[in-house]
Amino acid sequence: MNPVKIGILGLGTVGGGTANVLHRNAEEIARRAGRGITVEVAADLNLDRGKEIGLSDLRITQDAFEVVSDPSIDIVIELIGGYTLAKELVLKAIENGKHVVTANKALIALHGNEIFANAQEKGVIVAFEAGIAGGIPIIKAVREGLSANQIEWIAGIINGTGNFILTEMREKGRAFDDVLQEAQDLGYAEADPTFDVEGIDAAHKLTILSSVAFGIPLQFDKTYTEGITTITPEDVEYADELGYTIKHLGITRRTEKGIEQRVHPTMIPKTRLIANVNGVMNAVLVHGDAVGPTLYYGAGAGDEPTASAVIADVVDVVRAMTSDPSNRVPHLAFQPDQLADIPVLGMDDITTAYYLRVCALDQPGVLASITKIMGESNISIEAFIQKEPETGANEVDIILLTQRVREGDMNTAIQAIEALDVTCSAVTRIRVEALS
Ligand code: HSE
Repeated sequence: MNPVKIGILGLGTVGGGTANVLHRNAEEIARRAGRGITVEVAADLNLDRGKEIGLSDLRITQDAFEVVSDPSIDIVIELIGGYTLAKELVLKAIENGKHVVTANKALIALHGNEIFANAQEKGVIVAFEAGIAGGIPIIKAVREGLSANQIEWIAGIINGTGNFILTEMREKGRAFDDVLQEAQDLGYAEADPTFDVEGIDAAHKLTILSSVAFGIPLQFDKTYTEGITTITPEDVEYADELGYTIKHLGITRRTEKGIEQRVHPTMIPKTRLIANVNGVMNAVLVHGDAVGPTLYYGAGAGDEPTASAVIADVVDVVRAMTSDPSNRVPHLAFQPDQLADIPVLGMDDITTAYYLRVCALDQPGVLASITKIMGESNISIEAFIQKEPETGANEVDIILLTQRVREGDMNTAIQAIEALDVTCSAVTRIRVEALS
């Protein structure tokens, strides 16, 4: 059989890795796919890029539209990122009857509903494993491996750059900016690194995970997003004292009222396996009603780990190319006409436990005022520490761990605490999850 012809859009970190792994493992990949897979052309503004990645025979064009319109190309791999041009190219490739493999989680999270509808109509596949948790086959696991289950919740460390920064800061006391620069140099970070540190990249990924877990349309605008820039060394230290580690997690959970879809720093018990996932590694915990908890671990960013997921998608597409489109694995795990209208909850309606750090004057009655507010809001306190004031200072840090409570009620309590005469700055709040 003739080899399947691929066109790659973008020969950056992941594009270079993909071309190289396809070349190096060509024979093994063909034995799996049942056909050879050749890179016919790649689009990149740098015409010397082939030479730079050690593939000087690779044909390169600067015109990405030439690739998506080339009749000899069967599969387009989109690795240029961003929303505008990438969307135009992907829609054009679909219109031209080509299958698409992409690592572009932003594109899928924001425009996936439209892209999948177009692909469905044209009978082509759009595969996106590489967009979520780098080399970990998490979409395959949730969409196919766990298809017997009602997924109850997913919690994951799904941004390699953020985890790398938190790990280096905690273990080596390195400065935030210095570690971020290293993540950029290593090719982990997004083109705009604020996407990593402000949680936007993780929110893109969580939006997609939530859809394949619960069979709901992609709703990025409903994903609560908070990054790692507000985490302070004191909170890392207090968390440690209390037996917790702070990780940046994406959490999606099915509740009676709707679906929680949130990305934020989270304190988790140090004893959990996922608490020990460090550096650029990602890990995703998936809880199904039949299987119970399952954990997936691997490199969340980087050239060849991400290429591993891109190429696995290409192999899946090659195997499915001759199948009837209606018998293929649905893009969002559930049949397109079976997507459910379950609401994604606003943050006021999520339920979680909390760590609160309250800076207060060191004087009698302060603690009583704070606990009175908690009691009035029906919030039960689980643990409490009062730190010694620094010599000569009259302010102390009061640390509270609460039981699970509705976030709206916690907001009311925090407002009341901040309004007390004896508190000296905004209350720091970190959500706490037992993940049990
Ligand atoms: N910037 C992303 C990360 C790349 O650090 O996880 C992989 O999606």
